[in-house]
Amino acid sequence: MFRPIWGAATSAHQVEGNNFWNDWWAWEERGKVGERSGLASDHYRRFREDFKLARSLGHTAHRFSLEWSRLEPREGEWDEAAFRHYEEVFQALEEESLEPVLTLHHFTNPAWFAEKGGWLSSGAAEKFSLYVRKSVERFGRHVRVWITFNEPLIYIYQSYLLGRWPPGEKDFTKALRVFREFLRAHAAAYKILHEASSNPECHVSIAHHCMALSPCRSSHPLDRLSLFLREWFINRLPFEALMSGFLFFPGVFFEKLPFRRTLDFLGVNYYSRDFVRFAGFWGQNQFGTVCPREHHPREDREFNDLGWEIYPKGLFEVVSSLKRFRLPILVTENGVSTPDDRQRQRFIRDHLAELGRAQREGADVLGYFYWSLVDNFEWAEGFKPRFGIVEVDYPLQSRRPRPSAEELRRGCGKLFGQRETA
Ligand code: GAL
Repeated sequence: MFRPIWGAATSAHQVEGNNFWNDWWAWEERGKVGERSGLASDHYRRFREDFKLARSLGHTAHRFSLEWSRLEPREGEWDEAAFRHYEEVFQALEEESLEPVLTLHHFTNPAWFAEKGGWLSSGAAEKFSLYVRKSVERFGRHVRVWITFNEPLIYIYQSYLLGRWPPGEKDFTKALRVFREFLRAHAAAYKILHEASSNPECHVSIAHHCMALSPCRSSHPLDRLSLFLREWFINRLPFEALMSGFLFFPGVFFEKLPFRRTLDFLGVNYYSRDFVRFAGFWGQNQFGTVCPREHHPREDREFNDLGWEIYPKGLFEVVSSLKRFRLPILVTENGVSTPDDRQRQRFIRDHLAELGRAQREGADVLGYFYWSLVDNFEWAEGFKPRFGIVEVDYPLQSRRPRPSAEELRRGCGKLFGQRETA
């Protein structure tokens, strides 16, 4: 059903710069994080240059997000200049023969929406639906592949459990309410996109953060039990709910959506592995805790500069475990933060090898997006982490492709085919 696609991903707030109207900007202004996004990678003005680079690196597609707060800076007020800007973005992608993969929600909300209670306020999904409708009416003809929400569980974890991201809540019940609202909003968006898109093809999913998981103590039955429950909760639950049309969380909520399956493929973001330890039978504890590095089983392991384990086999494990849904799989993000590009080259080579292995063993893999095209603003971690296959010198805002960009071209070219040269 799909042509294979590959390239690199970005998100609006992380690269565009000057996103004054969203809740992250307000959070930064309140001094809640060490660094402010400011101009970020100045992509709002330099998108043409960035897409030219992506093309020169062989990419066939580009994943990015619309910034809702630019399109609707105040409730019900739609900014024509912002719509025209994204229209130019789509045109520039077309000129470089890069297929857009479009994300609608990538962690940021308009400030007005957040002030009204954000995803906890009544009618949140309906407000989001209006934005989805405007977007598909305006941009639908350019887009074949849509992502409604990026990493809903990571957003909920950081924003409603850890309190590190806006709105800074630490409340399990609220977290579950937001989860349910996201699923409702996704299902509504799915329907709107399919009904209103003027593109003959329209494929919709979420980009879901999946972790590889291993038990802390491999022979401990309770660690294995926690691991099983955690796997179900963090890797599978959103997919299960959106495939079956039942929104459920044992003992907390159960609701039937008006339509069944609202996924056309599975979008998977994969970065790392966690080791899981039993923590008790109740509440959040049943999903175990992640054991610290010094308690991991002793094996030769490598980490990125954020302390995340580099575990390429995990991509094979995650993709293989999703075969049971019988849907095509798109790797919507996979990447490494490192000052050492040789580590990035190995990361890309080894992960693509594991993805190839999953493909040979029957997984229907549509494509792959490396995170990220250019270095960018890594949320609470600021600008220090360097994920890009293209290096950004921030004071000059100049770009320089890293050698790992060639590794991506080689690996993806082998898996999905080279693009024709112009
Ligand atoms: C993902 C997220 C991106 C990016 C990346 C690297 O979880 O979607 O926005 O920050 O991680 O941490």
